[in-house]
Formats: sequence, C-alpha cells, structure tokens
Amino acid sequence: MKSATRFFVALALICAAPAMAETMREAVLRKAALENGLRPVEESWPEFEPEKAEVGKLLFESELLSLTRNVSCRNCHLDEFGSADGLPLGHGAGGVGKGIERMKSPAGVLSRNALALWGRGGAGFDTFFWDGRVDASSGDVRSQFGNMAPSDDPLVVTVHLPPVEFREMIGESDATEWLRLGEVGAAARVHMEIARRIRETPEIAAPLAVASGLEVAELTYLQIAEAIAAFIRSEFRLRKTKFHRFVFEGETLTERELAGGLLFYGRGQCAVCHTGAYFSDLQFHAIPFAQFGFGFNGFGIDYGRYNFTLDPRDRYAFRTPPLYNVTKTAPYSHSGVEPNLAGAIRAHVDPLAEIDTSRLSALDRAEVYQKIARWSQEPSYAVELSDAEIAELVAFLAALEFDPEPVR
Ligand code: HEC
Ligand code: HEC
Repeated sequence: MKSATRFFVALALICAAPAMAETMREAVLRKAALENGLRPVEESWPEFEPEKAEVGKLLFESELLSLTRNVSCRNCHLDEFGSADGLPLGHGAGGVGKGIERMKSPAGVLSRNALALWGRGGAGFDTFFWDGRVDASSGDVRSQFGNMAPSDDPLVVTVHLPPVEFREMIGESDATEWLRLGEVGAAARVHMEIARRIRETPEIAAPLAVASGLEVAELTYLQIAEAIAAFIRSEFRLRKTKFHRFVFEGETLTERELAGGLLFYGRGQCAVCHTGAYFSDLQFHAIPFAQFGFGFNGFGIDYGRYNFTLDPRDRYAFRTPPLYNVTKTAPYSHSGVEPNLAGAIRAHVDPLAEIDTSRLSALDRAEVYQKIARWSQEPSYAVELSDAEIAELVAFLAALEFDPEPVR
C-alpha cells in the first residue's frame, strides 16, 4: 500500500513535470519583460489636447503641407502598412497610389525606409528619425535648427522637418529651385507659405485657431506642428498587445511565442538594444544590413548617426527601431533592404548570409567589411541563432502586434 502510494505520487509528479516546467518558463519570461522595462501601455500615454489632435488629423491628411501640393503625411504613414508605407524607400512628392503602385509613379524617392509612428512622442520617447537628428535625450532639443529650435517639444520640432525635405514633400521643379540653392531661411520660407495656405483654408484654420487660442491671422507653422504632434500622440498611442496580456493579465502564449520570448530576452540578447517600454533603447548601434538605393550619403552609402555627430564611432549606427507592429512594416532596416523578418533578424547574427558579396563592387565590399568591423564592437556580436530559433523569434514578434482601433 505504502509503496503504491509512493508510486502514484511519483507518477503524478512525472505527469505534472511538463506543466510545471512550462510555468517556470512563463515566470522567467514575465520577470525578464518587467526587468527590461515593459509597462502597461497606459503608462506610456502622453498628454495631448484633444481639440488640437482633431484638427491635426486634417493637417496630417492635407496636401497643402507639400510645397508642390502633391503629397500629405498620410501618403507615407498608412494604416494598412502599420503606419509606414510598405516600400523599401519612402516615395514622396509627385507619387500616386500606395504600396507597389506608388513605386511605378513619378514620385521623389527618399534615401530611407519610412518609420512607423506607434508610441512616438509617448512618455520618454524623445529621439527621432533613424539617425536621431532630433534628439532631446539630454534635456535640450538638439536638431538642425541649432539654438533656433521652434519648440522645446522634440515631436513638434520633428514635425517641422518633412515639409522642408526635397522629394519627401517638395517636388523638384524650376519653381522650387530657389530652395535648393541653400538660401538662408529657405525652410522658414516654406513654413511661412504653408501657414499662409492654412490661414486661407477656413475649414482647417477656424478649428486650429480655436484649439490654439489665437486669431486665424496669428497662426504660424508652429500651431500647425503642435496640432499634428497632438494627433500623432492620440492616434498612434500604444495599445495592449498579446504580450502585454501575457505579462500583466496571465494570458498564455503559444509554445513558439514563449520560446521566442525567452530567446529575445535571453541568449539572443535582443533586449540589450530592443528594451524598455518601446522595445528600443533609443540609442544608436551598427547592425551590418546591406544598403539599398542611393543612400543618405550617396553612392550607396549611409553613415547614419555619424552624419550628425561626426564622431567616427557613430559611423553606420542607427537608432534601434521600436518593434510594435513590426510584423506589418516590411520591408526592414534603414534602407528597407530586408523583405522579411527572418532575414532582418539573421542580418544581426550572420550578416554575410544576407549579402551576396560576389556581386558587390569593390567600394561596396569595402563598406560591408567596415560595417562588420563596427558591428564587432556591439555586445550581441557573438550570438548564434539557428533557422528554427529565428522562426521562434518571429513568432514572438507577432505577439507585439495590436490593432489601431480607437482607445475610447
Ligand atoms: C515621402 C514619404 C513621407 C512623407 C510624405 C512623410 N513621411 Fe514621415 N517619415 C518618412 C520616412 C522615410 C521617415 C524616416 C526618415 C529618416 O529617419 O531619415 C519618416 C519619419 C517620420 C517620423 C519619425 C519617426 C521616428 O520613429 O522617429 C515622424 C514623426 C514622421 N515621419 C511624421 C511625418 C509627418 C507629420 C509628415 C507630414 C508633415 C510626414 N511624416 C510625411 C516618410 C514620409
Ligand atoms: C546591438 C543592438 C541590437 C541588438 C542586440 C539587436 N538589435 Fe535589432 N536592430 C538594431 C538596430 C540598430 C536596427 C536597425 C539597423 C539598421 O537599419 O541599419 C535593428 C533592426 C531590427 C529589426 C528591423 C526593424 C525595422 O523596423 O526595420 C528587427 C525586426 C530587429 N532588429 C529584431 C531584433 C531581434 C529579434 C534581435 C535579437 C536576435 C535583435 N534585433 C538584436 C539593434 C539591435
């Protein structure tokens, strides 16, 4: 009898073992997520003025913000592409349609992949663009405006930039030639022209004036930018993901999601950089992605962060991209060279598997090896991942999706 009891107890333990191990792995993942700064999404929600956000939506969707009147913010930040545009490189002024259609149209082509807008301007999100050329992490807003920054809100400063970029919101034509000459105050002239147009558009000007507490005649680009920033803060607030429900509400993950999560925070070392509430340290790192297109620096080169700091250690470094809805924002990397997520992850650990060096010019090959040398200083350099593990990481990233449904 005694030994039979012992037998049943042992049997019960053996049967429970997988379930118990499971629970331990879940506990480890929950703890790792919290230690790496995951928080309930509400804690990231920024303050914004709803009246401004409402008129900001009209401005975000208005072609009046383009000097050549042929592109709006919305053309490159679309719901169906997770608030990016589904293209390797942004296609701006003069473009028609969306997605692949837009590539066939006479659009101005940018040198970088469009960024998604989720969480931008949320609590602690203070560094903008792939190269961080608007950066308030030190307390002061650093940007091309130098000490003439139009606002101490870095998102408002950021919203000043798209309308003054050639090919992004300004088409190339004789009529815009004066801008290209680098005339002093060219950007200010563009902002003044856009503000003039908005003042003459009563359906936008009237609510903007009310929301800003000014007369229509007093509106400048600053109020326009503030309204768009409020819209971004409202519309693109983080929403709860399956992973949040797992960490904070006890929902279960699939076996693959769980395995991927443990790799993400564990041996894969992803959370060394993709950390915090936004899955980004908002710092700059070099991952040797191949370069697609002409490149920010021309001739297929993009020096990334270096362009703004001129510090050689920043060469090829880019801001760690946040990972919310990353499943929806293909293609990947600063130049959109990677068509799928598995490739984007592999580029981190086995870059040469993603680059056909035999087809590179001598210059490009030299570039690739310089990038790899820079990458070798990153903490994750020694990580190895099998294809099966990369597939698990992809499953985990899919648990960071959410639907852009209104919060209230
Ligand atoms: C032609 C396509 C295009 C248009 C039009 C466009 N964007 Fe973008 N947007 C991009 C690209 C490409 C980037 C990344 C550029 C970079 O980092 O160098 C970007 C980056 C951003 C960022 C920074 C996000 C981050 O993670 O730091 C914000 C904010 C933004 N855009 C808002 C806007 C607003 C507001 C407008 C309209 C005034 C606008 N965009 C118009 C393509 C576009
Ligand atoms: C050393 C810092 C660092 C580590 C570690 C790291 N990443 Fe990244 N990750 C980056 C940077 C920086 C980029 C953008 C580089 C570029 O575009 O040139 C990036 C890009 C990505 C992208 C493409 C996102 C997009 O929107 O284009 C994905 C997906 C990604 N990382 C997932 C991972 C996963 C999964 C791991 C773990 C295996 C990982 N990362 C480890 C810094 C890091």
